[in-house]
Amino acid sequence: MVIARVSSGIPGLDKLIEGGFPKCSNTLLLGSPGTGKTIFALQYLFEGAKKKENGVYISLESTSAELKSQAMEFGMDFDKLGDGKVLFVEVPLDRVSWNLFDQIRDAIKDVNASRLVFDSLQAFNSNIDMFSIPVTFFGGLALSDPNIDEEILKRKQDVKYKYERTPVSEGTDDNQLSLSTKNWSSQVSHQRLTYLLLRQMKNLDTTNLIATYSNGDLKSLDEVSEYAVDGLIKFGINDMLGTRTLRVEKMRQTKHPLNKLNVQIGASGIELMQKTD
Ligand SMILES: Nc1ncnc2c1ncn2[C@@H]1O[C@H](COP(=O)(O)OP(=O)(O)O)[C@@H](O)[C@H]1O
Ligand SMILES: [Mg+2]
Repeated sequence: MVIARVSSGIPGLDKLIEGGFPKCSNTLLLGSPGTGKTIFALQYLFEGAKKKENGVYISLESTSAELKSQAMEFGMDFDKLGDGKVLFVEVPLDRVSWNLFDQIRDAIKDVNASRLVFDSLQAFNSNIDMFSIPVTFFGGLALSDPNIDEEILKRKQDVKYKYERTPVSEGTDDNQLSLSTKNWSSQVSHQRLTYLLLRQMKNLDTTNLIATYSNGDLKSLDEVSEYAVDGLIKFGINDMLGTRTLRVEKMRQTKHPLNKLNVQIGASGIELMQKTD
C-alpha cells in the first residue's frame, strides 16, 4: 500500500524517510533545550504553507510574536504568507480547567490546517493542573438520560476523578464530557494525560509534530511519550565536536536510517549535512 507522506520542510531529510512523515501521524521531537526543536517545527509549517498545506502552531512556551521573530532570523516571514495560512495559538497557563483540546480543534478549523505543531508536551505536563480535555463516557451514557446526574455522580465516586459537563461546543458529541485535570499531579496522571492528548491528536486529520524535553539520556521526562507516538526524532549535541545531531529513531511504516545525522543551523534554519557519523 502506498502511504501518503507529508514533507518535513527540512532540506535533506525527506529522502531519508521515504518522502516525509506518514500522513496523520504523531512525531515526537525530543531533545534538550536549544537543540533546534522549535526551529524544526517552524520550518515544517512554513514550508507546508508555501505548498498550500496550512498549519497551526500550538505554543505553551513562547508568544506568537516571539515565534515569528525567531522564524524571521532564518528568513521565514510568516506575516508575508498572508492571512489564513499558519495560525499561532498561545495557550494560556493561568486559566483553570482550560479546554485545550477544543482550542486546538477550533484553530485547525479556522485555517483548514493539515499540519499541526504542539510545543511542548512537557509544558503541558508541567501545567497539567490547569487543563481539561473532552472525553467520551463509555457505557452508552447519554446526556439526555433522565438519570444522568445521578449516574455521573455514581461514576465520579467510582473512578475518583472529577468529571464535569463541558459547555458543549458545536459539533461535539453528546456523550462528550470534560475531564478536569485539577487534582492530577502524580506521574501516573501525567502519563494518562499524555496518552489521552496524543490519542486525541490522532483524530484531527492533521500530521503532527510534538516537541518535548529529554533528560541527559535522551529520554522524555514523562517516560511514555516515545512509545505513544508513531515517529521519534532525537535532537542532540555532540559535546566533543560541538556539533548538532539528529536521529530518526522510530517512524512507523517507514524505512529509515538509524545513525546520527549531522545537522547545522544555517541561514535558512536546520539542514542536514552530507557527512554522517
Ligand atoms: N541565527 C542562528 N544561527 C545558528 N544557530 C542559531 C541561530 N539562532 C539561534 N540558534 C541556535 O538555536 C537554538 C534555539 O533553537 P530552538 O529551536 O529554539 O531550540 P529548542 O530545541 O529549545 O526548541 C539556540 O540556542 C542557538 O543555539
Ligand atoms: Mg523550543
